[in-house]
Amino acid sequence: MPKDSIQVRATASVANVSCGFDCIGYAITNPGDTLTISLKNKPGIDISLSGPKSDSISTIAEKNTAGKAILSLLNTIASDQGFMVKIKKGIPPGSGIGSSAASAAAAVVGANELLGKPLELNDLLVHGMAGEAVASGGFHADNVAPALFGGIILIRSYEPLDILNLPVPKSLFSTAILPDFVVNTRDARRMLPKRVPLNSAVEQAGNLAGFTLGLHANDFELLGRSMVDLFAEPIRAELIPGYHGVRNAAIDAGAIGSGISGSGPSLFALSDSEEKAESIGKAMVKAFKKVGLKSRTFSSPIHSIPPEILD
Ligand code: HSE
Repeated sequence: MPKDSIQVRATASVANVSCGFDCIGYAITNPGDTLTISLKNKPGIDISLSGPKSDSISTIAEKNTAGKAILSLLNTIASDQGFMVKIKKGIPPGSGIGSSAASAAAAVVGANELLGKPLELNDLLVHGMAGEAVASGGFHADNVAPALFGGIILIRSYEPLDILNLPVPKSLFSTAILPDFVVNTRDARRMLPKRVPLNSAVEQAGNLAGFTLGLHANDFELLGRSMVDLFAEPIRAELIPGYHGVRNAAIDAGAIGSGISGSGPSLFALSDSEEKAESIGKAMVKAFKKVGLKSRTFSSPIHSIPPEILD
């Protein structure tokens, strides 16, 4: 019997990874959003939400990342199938770890499954991106691609879309730290300049190449010295009280590199062991505390799989 309801979980992700503004992202195992999607016998998408800070998210399908992603998919396959979508947010919106991307990724995977898989996983990406654009105001895939495929993803080109899997060194671990305040991605994108100086572009290109080579060669020292952002981080740092102290605390605790996760306010750090990932998290929490901010950490290896169908 074909299913008429499905539960899908997609996880958080870290975008930019310092040197890859809008073109590198990786998935982490926790937290995640869980969506229960059911077929409806009338067209239209009904959305309900629960979880931390979920009251700030629209339940109008066109304005909701999950709803918009499904509408985009339906448009491509010329279907007017209706859905009920219950979104249980585990990733607070506005935290900088791909909250909207996780909902969009789970939505397209779930809807596609219920429709009898008219599209391949790769073809779902543009629909996830259409959903993500509702929240960020920009067409970028550095959260939604890792949420959809797992791993560390390089978006080599947007037009045409060219998505590449980067190798994931076995002993690479991530720490993400979420301070207790919100940065709106749309605003954090608007504050960026439309143009960057040539010397910054050259340095950023060098760092990005160094980062990808570091992953290939398992060279964590090269990874670390490549993890510098000249485009967004220097500007967005002002949005995050204690940014320098928290980043330095991560490095002092043994991180390979650290920076703003996506558009913030979360920061992330990479390290070479699970124990270090944990202790780096503790050091970062302490540093945020110094500026009066509460925070939570999530340590994990790089999450390597697409959204999971739970039921
Ligand atoms: N690359 C995007 C940005 C990620 O930095 O705006 C948003 O989470």
